[in-house]
Amino acid sequence: MARPSRRTSASPLFTPGGRRDRAALKATRRHLADAASAAGRTNASDTAAQAGQDDSRPVYPVSGRPGPASARGNRLKLPAHRMTTAVAAGAYPFLAEGGLGAEGLYIGRDVHAEASFCFDPFTLYGKVSGYTNPNVLLAGVIGQGKSALSKSFALRSIAFGHRVYVPCDPKGEWTPVAEALGGTSIAIGPGLPGKLNPLDAAPRPDSVPAREWEGEVRKRRLLLLGSLARTVLGRDLQPMEHTALDVALDTVVTTAETNGRTPLLGEVAATLNNPASLDEAGGAMSGRLGEAARDLAHALRRMVHGDLAGMFDAPSTVAFDPTAPMLTIDLSRLSGGSDDTALVLAMTCASAWMESALSDPGGGRRWIVYDEAWRLMRHPGLLQRMQAQWKLSRGLGIANLMVIHRLSDLLTAGDEGSRGRALAEGLLADCSTRIIYRQETDQLHAAATLLGLTTVETEAISHLGRGRGLWKVAGRSFVVQHLLHPRERTLFDTDARMH
Ligand SMILES: Nc1ncnc2c1ncn2[C@@H]1O[C@H](COP(=O)(O)OP(=O)(O)OP(=O)(O)O)[C@@H](O)[C@H]1O
Ligand SMILES: [Mg+2]
Repeated sequence: MARPSRRTSASPLFTPGGRRDRAALKATRRHLADAASAAGRTNASDTAAQAGQDDSRPVYPVSGRPGPASARGNRLKLPAHRMTTAVAAGAYPFLAEGGLGAEGLYIGRDVHAEASFCFDPFTLYGKVSGYTNPNVLLAGVIGQGKSALSKSFALRSIAFGHRVYVPCDPKGEWTPVAEALGGTSIAIGPGLPGKLNPLDAAPRPDSVPAREWEGEVRKRRLLLLGSLARTVLGRDLQPMEHTALDVALDTVVTTAETNGRTPLLGEVAATLNNPASLDEAGGAMSGRLGEAARDLAHALRRMVHGDLAGMFDAPSTVAFDPTAPMLTIDLSRLSGGSDDTALVLAMTCASAWMESALSDPGGGRRWIVYDEAWRLMRHPGLLQRMQAQWKLSRGLGIANLMVIHRLSDLLTAGDEGSRGRALAEGLLADCSTRIIYRQETDQLHAAATLLGLTTVETEAISHLGRGRGLWKVAGRSFVVQHLLHPRERTLFDTDARMH
């Protein structure tokens, strides 16, 4: 049987030398070594005389330096080799990504390709395979530049006519950005005049039939009430509690509409706290509805009489302006307390108010930035509301940007297999773009598991510097250095108080 010929490459990448060549080379090398040591001996005295002159420069034979370091000295000569780019990728695997194209927002430098990196969730949609939604997840440890990147997204996308909404800004750091871009900021807090009614219904868009819109508004309100109750109670609602919430909302809405008003959270809480009227409104099937709603009544009471009193239980003092380029809700006066729940509830109410205002499909391309979203992750009730909103957003032309610290923030929503965990993972799956800034070493495993990172990528994210992130866009990877314009640097500076 004929032995198959062994070929390492389609064309001569290596030119194996014959036995004789190797023997000749070896003899030459030996010759050279002898000559060099002889020259060293005879020239020893000359060398001393020429002290100060550099004579250590090696002299190599024409074939290059002998031994394993033969390529040094630029004498290595290989025959020219031609191959297709597909073969080249195998022969030389260290190829850089080609980038996502030049359309959209300039972000900075792709550090592997040494090229500009541009990104626009709206233009990529439908163009890149596997890019199923415009949502972005941004994770990184404190002070790495997550907010700065989000603000650059906002600032740079306004030039494209996109609008930017920040429904909850617990640090108040977006207000100067909104002002600089001609937008507005609403501050909510104890003693402040600003009030938002999360049960506000946005005006019906012309394209949506009245019945459908009514159902949509009701669904949003129920989802909000359920989330608030679930967060305060720290548990899922019982079936009878769901019914009670349903019935209470319908009662309050009917009364409010008769009087030409918008329903208020306080009215829902009062109805839940009135077992007789609840039983009556519930009809035949619900003899103990009033009794079952007791916990709910206490939960919603917090929104009305507790630390959030008056802020989300009054007619809104501001009207939503769909033409403003940017709108932010500043909740910084609320933070600082030891109890995070009040802030989280406020963030939810503020988000609900803004999201309902953004439910016009003809509102153009918009960004919703959930900065500090990690605070919401611990509450499955809030996650569920957020996920429902995200499902809608694609049809509305909205890109959501969620900023968290660690990927394990997503895991705090519940144990493996729990509903909370499923919701968090669903939210992650709804982000086609994941930007990972530096992660602590103990977080690398969670990040690698959740995002399916390679070992090289996992290693990379533990060493990223400020403003540098691993971008995973529909399965493709980039390491990008976000570059700030000097004006942006001044406007986005959150270190000022540290200097
Ligand atoms: N790409 C960058 N180049 C230079 N400086 C940057 C860059 N990104 C951010 N910074 C600076 O780093 C500081 C911290 O940034 P930023 O507030 O965005 O961090 P963060 O990740 O949002 O922090 P936190 O987790 O506390 O919210 C800011 O003063 C900002 O100006
Ligand atoms: Mg930040």
